Amino acid sequence: ELSFFFPVEQTLATIKPDALEGHRDEIMEEIKGAGFVISQIKETCLDREMAEEFYKEHKGKPFFEQLVDYMCQGPSLMMILSKENAVNEWRALMGPTDPEVAQSTAPGSLRSKFAKSILQNGLHGASNEEHAVEKIKFVFGDIDLERVDVIDTGINQ
Ligand code: TYD
Repeated sequence: ELSFFFPVEQTLATIKPDALEGHRDEIMEEIKGAGFVISQIKETCLDREMAEEFYKEHKGKPFFEQLVDYMCQGPSLMMILSKENAVNEWRALMGPTDPEVAQSTAPGSLRSKFAKSILQNGLHGASNEEHAVEKIKFVFGDIDLERVDVIDTGINQ
């Protein structure tokens, strides 16, 4: 069993519509360069109902409706990323939610380079392991996370 030797973890990562349109190739290069394996990948246009479910933790907050509009403005790229400590490693590569904070505290992070504002911040990552599993199932269905790494997406080289 490979995972005995390489204890991988999975996270759900999303390139949001504006960043996907403007910076797809650069972001994909950074993801691979940082050592993530892209275990599953799917380009999908969220509808309002799906976007509301995806961000249900934020329902009722002042930015919720704008966030849903933003997520529905075009296709997003949904990925299962695998790596040791993937949840935290992906959040570190994304950087802080607010690009101004990202630029001052995490220069080089994806949001420091590609986020336009705290709302239009280009990238999403599950905030903890429990959310990672929940969001992976929401986007990719009831897949076997023990076996997800052996599925070759053909884009890791
Ligand atoms: P949150 O889960 O707090 O941040 P992160 O994406 O870094 O885990 O917020 C979810 C999204 O909601 C965030 O990516 C952008 C949006 N948002 C705003 O538009 N305004 C805000 O003040 C906050 C906190 C988030």
